Amino acid sequence: MTPLLALSNGTIAAIVVVVVLDLFAIMFGLSFRRARVAERDAEAAAQPGGIPIRPEVIAKGPKPVTRRDFFRRSLVTSLLVFTAQFGAMTIAFLWPNLKGGFGSLINAGKIGDIKAAIINAQGQPFYFGAGRFYIVAYNGTPTKDVNYEELLVAAQGIMPLYQRCVHLGCRVPYCATSSWFECPCHGSKYNGAGEYQLGPAPRGMDRFKVTIDPSGTVTVDTSEIVLGPPRGTNTISPSHGPFCVPA
Ligand code: FES
Repeated sequence: MTPLLALSNGTIAAIVVVVVLDLFAIMFGLSFRRARVAERDAEAAAQPGGIPIRPEVIAKGPKPVTRRDFFRRSLVTSLLVFTAQFGAMTIAFLWPNLKGGFGSLINAGKIGDIKAAIINAQGQPFYFGAGRFYIVAYNGTPTKDVNYEELLVAAQGIMPLYQRCVHLGCRVPYCATSSWFECPCHGSKYNGAGEYQLGPAPRGMDRFKVTIDPSGTVTVDTSEIVLGPPRGTNTISPSHGPFCVPA
């Protein structure tokens, strides 16, 4: 693991905030020092017998910073710093979780354990909440246009499906009685392979690429969504039992 990968979101955010605060302190200090120097020069020149500032020095050198300039610059600097902090915090918040959360490569476990969990649950999908996906058992027949193994979204009899409904984004639960995925929001229904069957959804459920290494570890790549198959795709039987969400 590289040093960057070892940092959590919180650590990255804290580093960004510290750097921004340091920059602010440096800029504020420099601005304050310039104002003090200018004030001292003006006072010295005003003293009886003080050394007058030569006109060419005034013309070439930096203009004395007035109190009003100082406060104006401080205000602008504060606004810039606030904007930078806000931007940095936003980036830190949106930064993909590099330690295995949604948006990264996720170790979903051993393929033997996942298949055993599916069998023990009478065929219900294996749900991985942190990655926002289901893993379904899949032994469908590719169609002329859709081959999940070639798309790298299925391997060794399993396939990860993104839990989000492709209609308007609700989480789609699996219905044990129908053996389909049924969206509670507007009634879209997908078969056990996440292929569109009913409702307003424009296509099948989206999915993620999956790899299985020689030791049997299943890795799901949630950094990239593979769009679901078009309506009309049926690589498994569309038969179903009673619906959980009325059709
Ligand atoms: Fe699922 Fe509308 S969000 S059917």
